[in-house]
Amino acid sequence: MVRFEHVGLSYPAPGRRSAAAVLHDVSFRVPEGGFRWLLGTSGAGKTSLLRLMYLAIRPTEGRLSVLETDITSARRGMLANLRRRIGVVFQDFRLLPHLSAFDNVALPLRIAGRSEGQIRADVAEMLRWVGLAGKLESPPETLSGGEQQRVAIARAVITRPRLLLADEPTGNLDEAQAERLMRLLQELSRLGTTVVVATHNEALASRHGAPALRLEHGRLVP
Ligand SMILES: Nc1ncnc2c1ncn2[C@@H]1O[C@H](COP(=O)(O)OP(=O)(O)O)[C@@H](O)[C@H]1O
Ligand SMILES: [Mg+2]
Repeated sequence: MVRFEHVGLSYPAPGRRSAAAVLHDVSFRVPEGGFRWLLGTSGAGKTSLLRLMYLAIRPTEGRLSVLETDITSARRGMLANLRRRIGVVFQDFRLLPHLSAFDNVALPLRIAGRSEGQIRADVAEMLRWVGLAGKLESPPETLSGGEQQRVAIARAVITRPRLLLADEPTGNLDEAQAERLMRLLQELSRLGTTVVVATHNEALASRHGAPALRLEHGRLVP
């Protein structure tokens, strides 16, 4: 499902002679339907590793395949196709400010050409599930951080992606909401979605036993 082989990543460093290396010799696999924590302190490289997995950037070294496709050699059209099967919960939510909570979550379904009748039922149910049944028409700026995070989560899972990537998805949630979200993510993985969740919250990860990928200074450590 996801395979990293000796992947390295450097960001261009303007004004410096050499690029800034943030990931070094990263190798791992996640099988279909697997659940992995991605752990590490701030700056360890978690977000960069997720960005590689959702195909926002390409590795500067090594090979990477996602959804059985070798990204290192894939063409642009192919990448766009793959991205549609990957759900992402961004750390900064990235909700569209001029759309209501409902329309933010409905957007990926509309892009996929689903019927409005089906969209109405699916989106309302999903927003009810994340505890936002009363906020369907609210624009993001009127929602709390935790509410916006739950809209972002609903939007990422509404299309039933094959691969779900979440970057610190519990950062703005209280403990009960975080536990609920973890149950949802584990349920999705049981149903066959491959899930990778980045967090610096070791306590949360240890409460939900699952294999962990642990980054330190851009390297995977045991
Ligand atoms: N776009 C970028 N350009 C240059 N350096 C970056 C960029 N994004 C992240 N970095 C650097 O890469 C390192 C890892 O960052 P990041 O992947 O965001 O880690 P984490 O998510 O674990 O906090 C940090 O040193 C950060 O400053
Ligand atoms: Mg990060």
